[in-house]
Amino acid sequence: MTIDDALASAYQVLDSAVLKHKGRPVGTAAALDDTVESSNYEECFVRDFVPSAFVFLMDGKTDIVRNFLQLVVELCSQQSVMAGHSRALGLMPASFRVPRHGAKATADFGDRAIGRVAPVDSAMWWMLLLRSYVVTTGDLDLAHRPGMQKTMHLALELCLRESFETSPAMLVPDASFMIDRRMEVYGHPLEIQSLFYGMLHTAQELLVPTADNEELLSNVKSRLQTLRSYVRMFYWLDQYRLNEIHRFRSEESGVDAINLLNIYPESIPVWLDGWVPVNSGYFVGNLGPGRMDFRYFAFGNLLAVLFGLATDEQSQQIMNLYEERWDDLVGATPVIICYPATSREKWAYTTGSDPKNLPWSYHNGGHWPCLLWAFVGAAIRTGRHSLAKRTLDMAIEKFPRDNWPEYYDGCKGTLIGRRANLKQTWSASALIVAYRLLEDPDSLPIFESINF
Ligand code: GLC
Repeated sequence: MTIDDALASAYQVLDSAVLKHKGRPVGTAAALDDTVESSNYEECFVRDFVPSAFVFLMDGKTDIVRNFLQLVVELCSQQSVMAGHSRALGLMPASFRVPRHGAKATADFGDRAIGRVAPVDSAMWWMLLLRSYVVTTGDLDLAHRPGMQKTMHLALELCLRESFETSPAMLVPDASFMIDRRMEVYGHPLEIQSLFYGMLHTAQELLVPTADNEELLSNVKSRLQTLRSYVRMFYWLDQYRLNEIHRFRSEESGVDAINLLNIYPESIPVWLDGWVPVNSGYFVGNLGPGRMDFRYFAFGNLLAVLFGLATDEQSQQIMNLYEERWDDLVGATPVIICYPATSREKWAYTTGSDPKNLPWSYHNGGHWPCLLWAFVGAAIRTGRHSLAKRTLDMAIEKFPRDNWPEYYDGCKGTLIGRRANLKQTWSASALIVAYRLLEDPDSLPIFESINF
């Protein structure tokens, strides 16, 4: 398949996914496959829209991104029914549905979603997208409008509100981001920390320094710094750190404790022995009291590189890990969502016996085309153009031929996901974004807008 054919096929999926509301384009459906099991794929998911929005911004179709940003703000003022309590202002919808004949769009704040999961990442992605819109169009006025300012203020207040925290990392319920099903990703998952970091950066740039925002901006500043140091130090794992953890003393209390979270060395999984080569490393998936989730989660790590949450050295080490563990982390399809998969009894209690999350499938070690843009972006930031090119070439060969699957199964990602939708929109836009970031110098503003 030539690159031109692949791009034409990707644009066909993207263009037919555009959703219109009252005659104006406002977003894209998650997938166009009519055979899909679940009807909410006809909706526009906030997180799924992100790579599509990058394409629209690069192509000068900025009105759709603007309409999207504004519609989400309108939807946030809708009442939504939550059993027994009122929805936190500042929570943004996971997705919205646009009715055919001009009626009101309806949002899902998690009150309709499978498993009733809270979309913590939506507000973060919305703000990051607002920044991308401003950087590429120069239209700062949109971000300065009162409705936009108020929406940012509410979202940040919610994320920074004190509750039962003892660490600067953000505490969230299970399934509150791209992994939106039970996967033992409650607590302080890495992906949320990376997005939170990006959101805090964005706030410093887009929130007008009024008296009303003064306290909020000061909280943003200190949280940004402490979050950055905490993640860089405590989530990081390389051979050196693994050796330390392997010999950790436990039961330390008081302010001088080294093993702050009381991680027991006995919790280091067998697969990790010899898995992290010299000069490589990564941020672990999650961290809490007595709990280090050693699994490698791709999106959180790639976003940490892209947003500069990882130091330059850590970023290089993460990309070294890709190079050295290519078979495990890329295999036949770029790229795996999390490594390794959990199986047997562990699968049963990690996923709640979820047949969609069988070992090496879906969120439990499936390979996701939509992650390609973040991989290519991180590779470019670290000067690894050859790695970026290698994954792009694989994608060009494979994704259009397989009709843009949502995900692939198998430990190397050789099989089209058993329950995957075809014509999945963010799979198509991720390839377009990846190609443009790598090959087209005109795409520089979009790259800068996702790179702090
Ligand atoms: C699945 C994914 C989620 C995505 C949605 C729509 O639920 O887990 O991340 O937003 O599909 O594609």
